[in-house]
Amino acid sequence: MEEKGISLAVIRRLPRYYRYLGELLENEVVRISSKELSEKMNVTASQIRQDLNNFGGFGQQGYGYNVEYLYNEIGKILGLEKKYNVIIIGAGNLGQALANYQDFERRGFVIQALFDVNPRLAGVSIRGKDVYLIDELETYMKEHTVHIAALTLPKTKAPQIASDLVKWGIKAIWNFAPTDLNLPSDIMVENVHLAESLMRLSYKLKTHEEAMQKKE
Ligand code: NAI
Repeated sequence: MEEKGISLAVIRRLPRYYRYLGELLENEVVRISSKELSEKMNVTASQIRQDLNNFGGFGQQGYGYNVEYLYNEIGKILGLEKKYNVIIIGAGNLGQALANYQDFERRGFVIQALFDVNPRLAGVSIRGKDVYLIDELETYMKEHTVHIAALTLPKTKAPQIASDLVKWGIKAIWNFAPTDLNLPSDIMVENVHLAESLMRLSYKLKTHEEAMQKKE
């Protein structure tokens, strides 16, 4: 399957298709037309056709999309048929919340361990995942295969830990610390900033209120 040249915009939309198709599968829906999918997802049918045509189009005229096939193919494109070992650096509120969330595993992201500087957290287990002292990280990295490191520690500490992790072989970082990491270009970083999402929501609220005021 040709995946090269798919725009990042399309790739960004794929997880949402994947989620909807997963729900359809759970409800034992076998096939769906682009029109029905577009009504569910609130995007145009032509956008759906365009997006899915990028990888050979899994739809058939008059039949629609085979839900299971499409779900599996999108999963393959996103690399979800594999298992990823994840570690969490910073076992505070957010780190523990991530560790407590079971659904990442269903998607193949298996949280293996947490690390923290706080000695009171060392030896604690969160949903069966052990918290280790940060001093043990280097040895752990040497002895285990770790695909993704989540950074949920204070932002002042994140860049140093990130560069240590890179030195010890990490290739992908899921960064929650509100800071830019500036790592080599072959290291994949996905920044997750809930505050930015809230600011976008604030913008929407503001423009909505302004529009309402104009109407009055
Ligand atoms: P927290 O204070 O509950 O947890 C931080 C943990 O990191 C503590 O357990 C602390 O002992 C540990 N820590 C400190 N230095 C460390 C080091 N050098 N190595 C390993 N662990 C270390 O804070 P919380 O609320 O869990 O937030 C954690 C981080 O996530 C902060 O940077 C915060 O700004 C960020 N955050 C980001 C969000 C987002 O949407 N991206 C949302 C909420 C928090």
